[in-house]
Amino acid sequence: MSDRTGERLHEVSLVVNGQARSGACTARTSLVDFLRETLRLTGTHVGCEHGICGACSVMLDDRPVRSCLMFAVQAAGHRITTVEGLANPDGSMSVLQDSFCEAHGLQCGYCTPGMLIAAQALLDRNVQPTEFEIRDAIGGNLCRCTGYQQIVDAVRLASARLAGGAGQPATAADASPAAPAA
Ligand code: FES
Ligand code: FES
Repeated sequence: MSDRTGERLHEVSLVVNGQARSGACTARTSLVDFLRETLRLTGTHVGCEHGICGACSVMLDDRPVRSCLMFAVQAAGHRITTVEGLANPDGSMSVLQDSFCEAHGLQCGYCTPGMLIAAQALLDRNVQPTEFEIRDAIGGNLCRCTGYQQIVDAVRLASARLAGGAGQPATAADASPAAPAA
């Protein structure tokens, strides 16, 4: 099996957002290109393509990785979570996604999928992170709109909601974090 240029294609099977998926790609196809172009999961963004910006972040077996730095064939047999997989099963936004909306944690939105993946990975292992831990967790993700403070506020809001066990409070004010120190 080969592509139009005669380059050999490899069948890659993996679990993406809880579903078994497979597709054919060349050995040098990056994981982000495989996700976007072969599986048509375009929520994961491509920025720098050399491991700097974090826009392409996905979870590989529950750990955030840069999908532009991995070959798709390296992900074979693993579990991948993309931003599409963060939503609730009924398609509604997760607590974290809703908190980004409530706290204005995005402007152009280009960095947002990667920020959400980094933040979700943090909350999955530590539902009540300190502000330092939040900033450390998203430290590898660049926002060219420089909306970092609102992103931190969004993660703190999600943390408050999740730790409070309320899931989705009636209003953002129900669970808004205290204003961060300057
Ligand atoms: S596109 Fe992967 S780190 Fe920038
Ligand atoms: S919201 Fe524009 S790059 Fe972050």
